[in-house]
Amino acid sequence: MNNIYSETFNVKDKVIAIIGASGILGTEYVKLLGEAQAKLSIGDINPERCEELAEQVRSQFNSDCISFSVDNTDSYSIESFIEKTVEKYGRIDVLINNAQIKPEGFYAPFEQYKKETLTKVIDGNLVGVVIACQIACKYFIKQGYGNIINISSIYGVVGSDQRLYDGVNNPYFEGERFSSPVSYAVSKAGVISLTRFLASYYREKNIRVNCLTPGGVFDNHDQTFSNNYSYRTLLGRMADRKEYNGAILFLASDASSYMTGANLLVDGGWTVI
Ligand SMILES: NC(=O)c1ccc[n+]([C@@H]2O[C@H](COP(=O)([O-])OP(=O)(O)OC[C@H]3O[C@@H](n4cnc5c(N)ncnc54)[C@H](O)[C@@H]3O)[C@@H](O)[C@H]2O)c1
Repeated sequence: MNNIYSETFNVKDKVIAIIGASGILGTEYVKLLGEAQAKLSIGDINPERCEELAEQVRSQFNSDCISFSVDNTDSYSIESFIEKTVEKYGRIDVLINNAQIKPEGFYAPFEQYKKETLTKVIDGNLVGVVIACQIACKYFIKQGYGNIINISSIYGVVGSDQRLYDGVNNPYFEGERFSSPVSYAVSKAGVISLTRFLASYYREKNIRVNCLTPGGVFDNHDQTFSNNYSYRTLLGRMADRKEYNGAILFLASDASSYMTGANLLVDGGWTVI
């Protein structure tokens, strides 16, 4: 049947490589794209969790999914991941840069933020994304087409609202004061800028480069944080982890064929007020 569902949003047999694939949102993207019969290559610094996810996708959806250990702070590791993807499937159609790096000291207050921590976060969240794009684009140019989806954050678009974190428990690093740190803000803003740069740079190479900017996902945050956050959104709540799937399918498929350099904001209305 030829209709909008089977054609416009079709990712069947598209070779999609995802870096940072087995976290909260990556897991949802992988399951969605696996169910849609994409040919997946998934990489993460946590190879065990990544392989478990790949196995789940293979058995549940009977689709192709291979997993690799990838460190986004290591150019050789990224190169080897993309190389192995192309070795396995013969091409790469879409690259999704989804990793985020949270080293020790990630949540430190600005005054005490260590250069070492800042460098590590920027290295993984931004430099690694530049390198992954650079490597994927070599293949895209040979193929004559390509599609990149970079993942930013609302805190790459607007200033992080530090008021939300006052008196809130840190669900990720017990004992460290919860906040959204400087390293996250500057690295995620850079991802949006990189997206625009690359869209323009490869304008004549049939390579589309877009960014998805999610708002906050509910992840068992304490009630105070969840209430504070919800108040900032027009929809009055945090996102469910599946609520970015539609945007990923749109960006990965030909439904977004006339879109490049864009930043798709899916944030419950946070940034419009
Ligand atoms: N969850 C949210 O509320 C939210 C909001 C806005 C933006 N985002 C963005 O969405 C993306 C996914 O977020 P998430 O909440 O699923 O995060 P997550 O921390 O659950 O997942 C990130 C993944 O990156 C992997 N990773 C960490 N270091 C790595 C490295 N050096 N190399 C390769 N992989 C590495 C982790 O193992 C993990 O699987 C991130 O880029 C994040 O900044 C998330």
